[in-house]
Amino acid sequence: MLPPSPRPDYQSKADIYREIASAIAAVLDGETDRIARMATVTALLKDRFDTYFWAGFYVVDPVKQNELVVGPYQGTLGCLRIPFGRGVCGAAAATRTTQIVPDVHAFPGHIACDSRSNSEIVVPVFDADNQLIAVFDVDSVSFNAFDETDADWLENILKTTFQT
Ligand code: SME
Repeated sequence: MLPPSPRPDYQSKADIYREIASAIAAVLDGETDRIARMATVTALLKDRFDTYFWAGFYVVDPVKQNELVVGPYQGTLGCLRIPFGRGVCGAAAATRTTQIVPDVHAFPGHIACDSRSNSEIVVPVFDADNQLIAVFDVDSVSFNAFDETDADWLENILKTTFQT
């Protein structure tokens, strides 16, 4: 008799991101509309990860430039506008770097759109000209839900989807 295979149903976080990345590329093949692309990324990621309580884009306001306005998202009601430099999203936009926040209550200026959120990751999104167009924000009700694996894969997915 064959020995039991090692945890055949187990998928690591990286395995799941890899699958979602392929699904996003397949679904969006030939689709150039930015809102359709943002909505698809949000839906496919949010559906697969129980850790995702809120996921979506805050888009750079084309008129004000130094303010984010909510874009496609899934989850409870999000704040509509966030100035650059405010909260985690504002920090990601102002510094153009990914923010991993294990405890949002310890983050200066954190904006609590939903008090159930306890940790989050925010990744800046650039276009083909390297201009900041948005940030992608994921919140979890767990503390310390996100790490470098999330950062690497989200950066990879967002780069492939919006920069190429
Ligand atoms: N927590 C974010 C605000 C956006 S919501 O959580 C949806 C922040 O501080 O940037």
